[in-house]
Amino acid sequence: MFDSNSFPRFGDKQNSEFFETYLHRVLAERDRCGLTELIGGIEALMISVEPGKSLEYIAELALMTPYHYLVTLDSARHYTHVLRIDMNSPDILLREVKDASYSDIFRNLNDMYPVGARRPHSRYLGEILYASNRHEVVAMQQDREFRFFGLGQLADLDLPLNVSLSKPSPYTQNVVGYMERPEDGIRVYQHGESIILNEAQAAYERGKEMQDQIGIKGMIMPIDHLATRVYSQNREVALLEYLALSSYYYWGSYDIRDQNSSTNVTKNVRGQPETKSPAKVFTANNLPYCVNHLDKLPSPTESFVRNYGPRLHHMALSVADGQTQGMENIDFVVQQIAAQGKGFLLDTVGSREEGLKQIFSSASDFSSLIIEYVQRFDGFQGFFARDNVAQLTYAAGLEEGVRASAN
Ligand SMILES: [Fe+2]
Repeated sequence: MFDSNSFPRFGDKQNSEFFETYLHRVLAERDRCGLTELIGGIEALMISVEPGKSLEYIAELALMTPYHYLVTLDSARHYTHVLRIDMNSPDILLREVKDASYSDIFRNLNDMYPVGARRPHSRYLGEILYASNRHEVVAMQQDREFRFFGLGQLADLDLPLNVSLSKPSPYTQNVVGYMERPEDGIRVYQHGESIILNEAQAAYERGKEMQDQIGIKGMIMPIDHLATRVYSQNREVALLEYLALSSYYYWGSYDIRDQNSSTNVTKNVRGQPETKSPAKVFTANNLPYCVNHLDKLPSPTESFVRNYGPRLHHMALSVADGQTQGMENIDFVVQQIAAQGKGFLLDTVGSREEGLKQIFSSASDFSSLIIEYVQRFDGFQGFFARDNVAQLTYAAGLEEGVRASAN
């Protein structure tokens, strides 16, 4: 049996007494009732983009990540492209609505925020978790007051019918899905008709050929972590909610005082490598915007949330440790990708001595998501270096859409 409370704690961010008490209780109860056992790692990420943009995003992901195009699920109102590395890391379900005037709950979430509304269909919807018994997990979670879309609603939303999906979180606005599959079986999504779209295949091949030509193929590894930004006051409840819905544990939180922000990390309880089930990170301002006229502190995190809404900010991918042409691999990868016209928000930060080196790309024109690359040196086990995070947070704050004080 799992003991989700038994992991060592990292970080220096002070949590409230409420959080510490309920963290222990939530994890102990989850272990006791069997949910920790029934729920596995992350099986898939769901991302939606504007009509006509998914092919370019496939090409971008083929260049900037190890993902391959597998198949397109053609359903009533969407094309959903399944991108996969292999069965040892999560799929990406890349969804594009066919009709720009289409509106649903996910679009409504974007429409509420000034910058989010500029790309009304583009957002990270959430992730699908493995469940050894999906119906049992959902019944237990419903008993615990978590809400799920009914089958009729899933059909209306035009989403896979073999995935149970929670309602969007009031704290992160992400959904959590559960799906089953046979042990050692492949993932199958019950959704529309499976087709190989020639244009999607061509976009994929264009990206991958470029990846090969510029000599970075094989250097970029699967997703390391997913970072969600939430309102200051929702930091602790967002963590507790995710821990109640998943089989993750609380790794710890670091105060990034310089940027009036904190980074809060949860990881898979099974000790699987992040490549198999990425860490989930939640970032929040230390102080809310409504008192910031007093101290006038930097607030890149809360500004992002106010402009886009709470949502996924970046996906981080590992870069294989090593050197190429006299450079650390991460510097080589960034140099080669930047030469193809992709922007980065800053130079790589960190060093071999600090254990890791990181960088943020510019937000994708297609999904608004940032890609982080992270190279860990000599098997460095730590999650991050504080100075790196401060610099990355600062650079992300300069990104258009965060800086813009849209009304
Ligand atoms: Fe990150």
